[in-house]
Amino acid sequence: MSDFAIRNLADGEQRSAFALLYQALHRGALTDEHWGRRSPGFLADRRYGAFAEDELIGTAGSFGTELAVPGGALLPTGAVDGVGVRADHTRRGVLSALMGEQLRDLVRRGEVLACLHASETAIYGRFGYGVASLDQRVRITRRAARLHQDAPAGGRVRLLAPEAAVELIPALYRRIAPSRPGMLSRPEVWWPMRFERFRGHDGGHIAAVHTGADGDDGFVVYQVNERHGAQPHTADLTVHDLHAAGPEALAGLWRFLLGMDLVDELHAYRPVDEPVAAMLTDLRAWQVTGVEDESWLRILDVPAALAARTYQRAEPVVLEVSDALLPENSGRYRITADGAERLGDDTEAEVRLGVDVLAMIYLGAWAPSALAATGRLQARTPEAARRADELFGTPVKPWCGTGF
Ligand SMILES: CC(C)(COP(=O)(O)OP(=O)(O)OC[C@H]1O[C@@H](n2cnc3c(N)ncnc32)[C@H](O)[C@@H]1OP(=O)(O)O)[C@@H](O)C(=O)NCCC(=O)NCCS
Repeated sequence: MSDFAIRNLADGEQRSAFALLYQALHRGALTDEHWGRRSPGFLADRRYGAFAEDELIGTAGSFGTELAVPGGALLPTGAVDGVGVRADHTRRGVLSALMGEQLRDLVRRGEVLACLHASETAIYGRFGYGVASLDQRVRITRRAARLHQDAPAGGRVRLLAPEAAVELIPALYRRIAPSRPGMLSRPEVWWPMRFERFRGHDGGHIAAVHTGADGDDGFVVYQVNERHGAQPHTADLTVHDLHAAGPEALAGLWRFLLGMDLVDELHAYRPVDEPVAAMLTDLRAWQVTGVEDESWLRILDVPAALAARTYQRAEPVVLEVSDALLPENSGRYRITADGAERLGDDTEAEVRLGVDVLAMIYLGAWAPSALAATGRLQARTPEAARRADELFGTPVKPWCGTGF
């Protein structure tokens, strides 16, 4: 019997939940000013609290969105955010209780997927989440980074005042994204998190828009920080958000960033297959300093998720999926180039995997045969794993690109 209870937050309890998160993430005390900026996006709806004798000791929430899957369908998704347990109540099952309650709630809401970005990688696998997209952390030495003469010329880039950015960027994102598996629609509740940073909390984010032959087709949000005490004067530029409708806009935005006076280095998290390094005359100016887990995906409704994505041409394969927390997902599924169907238990399975590992292959981040080699899934024959590789493969790598 646990000494805490889980319930939905009531209206009026949001601020204490946000303050708890702040403390759990070691961000210090929450000020009125900061809460004023964050409160519009921090709703009680979809947010749980764990209470011990009426005192809030943990919280977890989500916002409703859609996630793009291979083939372009957008699936109803709960984006899980604001997870924290008070430091004097950790390792007593509070998170596990919050996660269990939340999974059941997301299923009741008809959401097919849940996704999150993890503070630490050891936490979420046990709840059926798997790493479904990776990103590369890059450092670019600006003075060495020249775009090759064959790189697309790109169009014009203009800086936006914060008020104009708030108006323009959400509509532009809606028009040009999601362009990769794993990308999210950004609901209204998401934008206040982005825009509070234009207002100086994290030190002045700047927005710029790219205009190509058919109008606005890309944007970047970035920040420049001087290197204190450095002589001569130098600065670092951090790219926070960059989306482009195509290669012209992508090259145009990077040309703009790489031309920024007084900047020494640029830093960004980008899709692992973004082709910018190949646009440079000196490939070594684009230094990959890490490849990391980006989105963790939880497939809540396996039949719906498997039916919603497209597959590459290959011979069929039969999967056996196991899901201890949502057992209605456990079962056998035939995957063909034309789709997926659920089978009875009398069909022999060729590839056995947990729902967390299904999430790893679902958007195309990992090849099933590579996971078979690590023991994360079991394939009856190497040839069955190769068929699964072909069916689940995607022309571009998945990427989320939306922080939350
Ligand atoms: C991470 C955090 C939410 C875990 O909450 P908790 O209530 O201690 O978790 P639980 O007691 O339910 O633990 C569930 C399991 O996860 C493990 N676990 C929890 N946090 C872990 C961590 N940081 N690293 C490794 N394992 C962890 C526990 O050991 C336990 O394992 P078991 O099932 O084998 O017994 C909490 O420590 C916290 O708030 N940390 C700071 C803020 C943070 O990181 N938030 C997450 C943002 S994504």
